Amino acid sequence: MGVTVADIMAWDKERPITMLTAYDAPTAALVDDAGIDIILVGDSVGNTMLGYDSTLPVTLDDIESHTSAVTRATEDALVVADMPFLSYGLDRGQSIEHCGRMLKHADASAIKLESGPHTVGLTESLVNLGIPVMAHLGLTPQHVNQLGGYSRQGTESKAAERILELARAHEEAGAFSLVLEHVPSNLAERITDTLDIPTIGIGAGPACDGQVLVITDVIGLTEWSPPFSQQFGDARGEISSAIEDYRDAVVQGQFPGPDHSYEESDLFDD
Ligand code: KIV
Repeated sequence: MGVTVADIMAWDKERPITMLTAYDAPTAALVDDAGIDIILVGDSVGNTMLGYDSTLPVTLDDIESHTSAVTRATEDALVVADMPFLSYGLDRGQSIEHCGRMLKHADASAIKLESGPHTVGLTESLVNLGIPVMAHLGLTPQHVNQLGGYSRQGTESKAAERILELARAHEEAGAFSLVLEHVPSNLAERITDTLDIPTIGIGAGPACDGQVLVITDVIGLTEWSPPFSQQFGDARGEISSAIEDYRDAVVQGQFPGPDHSYEESDLFDD
């Protein structure tokens, strides 16, 4: 058995938890082989893979399909499905059914909810039913229209206190971990010290129990990445160069070569 929700809840803090997004089978296999603890099938699939300029258009079917691809290719990492905009929060029964689909049909081990006061009760219901919940506070990109952008959150004491309270409420409701996005590092440190469940930061400083980034930023596939991220590779350059080499080889008659095709004898009479 690979990494479980119970392993994450009981994390001994000897080393930080590693988490990365993945959206397809080949990438998930590479992330899994590298020994990353948690794979998040983020609704960031909207911006990174589907060509949208926000996560709002991502559908439940999109997340189910991408999660299924990821779980088929993952042996060890814990796979978490990120619930998309308006797939939860309207009607409790429908929200539970949608979250349950990710475990029942896509083989995820847990779901993530962009959290707020509206997700405390839902988290409790889901956990009672056996659907593990990763909470997510700070910058919650599904609120982009309300927030007016993707700016840092919890920068004033009242707002920071509100995030801390919500973190406590979600732990009490049974969440097994908490993503903290784009908040001051001293707020993330305070929350990490306060909670028993692990915090996993993105743009939240080094004090969190774990770190998460978006895979396309990490491998350098995108031209732009957020200031709190880091490109550890140049996938964009590598892919462009392979495509250009292929184009040139075809145009110059170098591909396919003798190794890439064969002639069948006795195919024609003449
Ligand atoms: O969708 C996503 O990729 C996320 C991470 C940034 C935590 O929610």
